[in-house]
Amino acid sequence: MTTTAPGATRRHYLMCEPRFYTVSYEINPWMDKTRYTDVDLAVRQWRTLRDTYLDLGHRVDTIEPVDGLPDMVYAANGATVVDGVVYSARFRYPERGPEGPAYQKWFADRGFVTHTAAQVNEGEGDLLVVGNMVLAGTGFRTDRAAHAEAQELFGRPVVSLELVDPHYYHLDTALAVLSSDPQDPQIAYYPPAFSAGSRSVLQQLFPDAVIATEQDAVALGLNAVSDGQNVVVAPAATDLAAALRERGYTPIPVETTELLKGGGGAKCCTLEIRPAGAPTGD
Ligand code: ARG
Repeated sequence: MTTTAPGATRRHYLMCEPRFYTVSYEINPWMDKTRYTDVDLAVRQWRTLRDTYLDLGHRVDTIEPVDGLPDMVYAANGATVVDGVVYSARFRYPERGPEGPAYQKWFADRGFVTHTAAQVNEGEGDLLVVGNMVLAGTGFRTDRAAHAEAQELFGRPVVSLELVDPHYYHLDTALAVLSSDPQDPQIAYYPPAFSAGSRSVLQQLFPDAVIATEQDAVALGLNAVSDGQNVVVAPAATDLAAALRERGYTPIPVETTELLKGGGGAKCCTLEIRPAGAPTGD
């Protein structure tokens, strides 16, 4: 093993309490309108996730949930923030359309420079900052043209990756950033979620990546949140937890089963705010 965890850095997250959580439409294979959803359980799990971040010393801000936007809990989709610059989300499906402006307004009201997207993109669901570059998913939600838009806006290389399995419709369902340290960026991913060409690109860029198993992937274990040391991860992703431990990371299991009914886990509920002038962080 050539890589080890670089250590934790304090993070700033934006989250949205799932007070209006339900599954009232189906836009990914995890969603089933006929299945009962327990809003109280969703809120309890979400609060545990938030408290976990606070206990780890991170800052968590919240955005007010909007009645009729049940997927707003998946804050990662709300925008992408790099160097304090906010690239707004523009959703693929009309059911989630109003979430883009709602998140953009939250940032604008707090003095952030925001950029209204011309291209369809679902925020950090598909745009993951790793070191000095951005890994960008396409195939189901975010348009490839948005990758170019993000590259121009952030001035960082954006690497396009093609997703091929509808269960892993956002990049953050198939790939987790473990360390964003530019000297030694580290990721975990599930190869079958990617096209052959994209697998080859990932292999070249991250030869030491953690390779997740199918069991990790179906639990949405890759929808994990790392601060460079602590990795908040679905408890069912036991292979991933073992692989993380081997590399010196500390897996922190947090149950998000109720939010999985909408097709999301810990990372989906967490939008990272990367401030201007700060190092990329790890
Ligand atoms: N129901 C939501 C959708 O399909 C889930 C989004 C999950 N978010 C994520 N960052 N992967 O759009």
